[in-house]
Amino acid sequence: ATKVTKICCIGAGYVGGPTCAVIAVKCPHIKVTIVDLNAARIAAWNSPDFKLPIYEPGLEQVVREARGRNLFFSTDVDKGIEEADLIFVSVNTPTKKSGVGAGSAADLNYVELATRRIATVANSSKIVVEKSTVPCRTAESMRTILEANSKPNCRFDILSNPEFLAEGTAISDLYNPDRVLIGSLQTPEGKAASDALVSVYANWVPTDRILTVGLWSSELSKLAANAMLAQRISSINALSAICEATGANIDEVAHAIGYDSRVGPKFLKASVGFGGSCFQKDILNLVYLSESCHLPEVAAYWRQVVEINEYQKRRFSKRVVDTLFNTITGKRIAVLGFAFKADTGDTRESAAITLIKDFQSERALVNVYDPQVEHSQIWADLQEASPLIPLDSIKKQVTICNSALEACKDAEAVVIATEWKEFLEIDWEAVYQNMNKPAFVFDGRLLVDADKLRKIGFKVTTIGRAEVA
Ligand code: NAI
Repeated sequence: ATKVTKICCIGAGYVGGPTCAVIAVKCPHIKVTIVDLNAARIAAWNSPDFKLPIYEPGLEQVVREARGRNLFFSTDVDKGIEEADLIFVSVNTPTKKSGVGAGSAADLNYVELATRRIATVANSSKIVVEKSTVPCRTAESMRTILEANSKPNCRFDILSNPEFLAEGTAISDLYNPDRVLIGSLQTPEGKAASDALVSVYANWVPTDRILTVGLWSSELSKLAANAMLAQRISSINALSAICEATGANIDEVAHAIGYDSRVGPKFLKASVGFGGSCFQKDILNLVYLSESCHLPEVAAYWRQVVEINEYQKRRFSKRVVDTLFNTITGKRIAVLGFAFKADTGDTRESAAITLIKDFQSERALVNVYDPQVEHSQIWADLQEASPLIPLDSIKKQVTICNSALEACKDAEAVVIATEWKEFLEIDWEAVYQNMNKPAFVFDGRLLVDADKLRKIGFKVTTIGRAEVA
């Protein structure tokens, strides 16, 4: 098998950056170059004071260890391709916004452009690895493009190696993955390419956790894994609505269900709804795939996971309005957290965006605070959510604050949208003193101790629990 000595990763985002930085740390004998067309992003990866473009616990230490040794960040995509014997394609694959499959199919434009670039630039044989999440059989299209455009004596072997890291725990997930999945054609050449990639991961991943399968199974497994995970969240969230109506407690129900070893306790936490760049996009992708395969019942089944998620967000903002005596017009609402989950600065598809938009349409005043998200990102997201409202008008209704305490000052209600640990450590007594009364807390993440807050004087509403009289 090819011995991998130089790796290039196209795409320096949430996946390409951490994944290949960890490969560099674990494989000092391999030169790893991460390239991206986005010069600002590359500059941030290269910044002397390690102000990296993404926030991820432990990432800075990894980059400090390897950068300049065998880890490099560059905008010179062509040079990265030329040098490498193995290339990860780790570009974005968002949901299509227009054309055939708009709203559900994956936009493969970036994957195709990167693939064409590889075909144009490569002067020697390469192993090309799909790292991006792609629809089943994308590897086939990549191979066709590469073969139709390659120079003589250039061989391309395509592998699928989907990434299972979760933002917020990316580094520990990469250091100690549940599994690494590698798909290849079941030909001698395909298997040899697969062996080459196995030998990279085998530097730190136990070989019984490196699964080698066929290409199409590998591609589909990534969509299936995300669909199953999101389905657990939508299932528990659907049950939380029943709890609120009946007086059952969703935490107790989840605990009881999770004790069944076939179900397991993880990922059963009710919330205001899942966010992030992947769950919704990948399920919609699976829906589109099912429809393309003429399986409308299967498509409808998976689509419902996304619909319950939308329902959960709407249900939560309606509960805020209902509880505040059916109107929040002119009232100040403090939204704590803007990232889609704790320990990341990523805001893609964050539930907070939907909540704030709902509060805006009710003509409330919103104070937002998040410990990691840049203010410019919050403005960009709110503008994108309400394209018809000028940013100036949005800024009249929304204020970004620099601490939770500041955000809660003179507010009628506090809404916890992200489960940041620091919200547990807030001086809730001080928050209470500074708020208008009655002071309401809406816990969208089952984060705070509701009884403790009630003792201070708050009126607390929690997902999956009936109102306390
Ligand atoms: P991202 O948007 O953070 O990063 C993608 C990067 O690729 C961008 O910086 C973009 O400038 C660059 N790029 C696009 N086309 C390029 C080209 N032709 N040449 C050079 N650079 C190019 O996206 P992210 O979150 O890293 O996701 C990448 C893929 O990984 C997606 O398919 C996603 O579904 C998948 N994935 C994401 C996970 C996550 O937690 N974010 C987890 C697992 C998979």
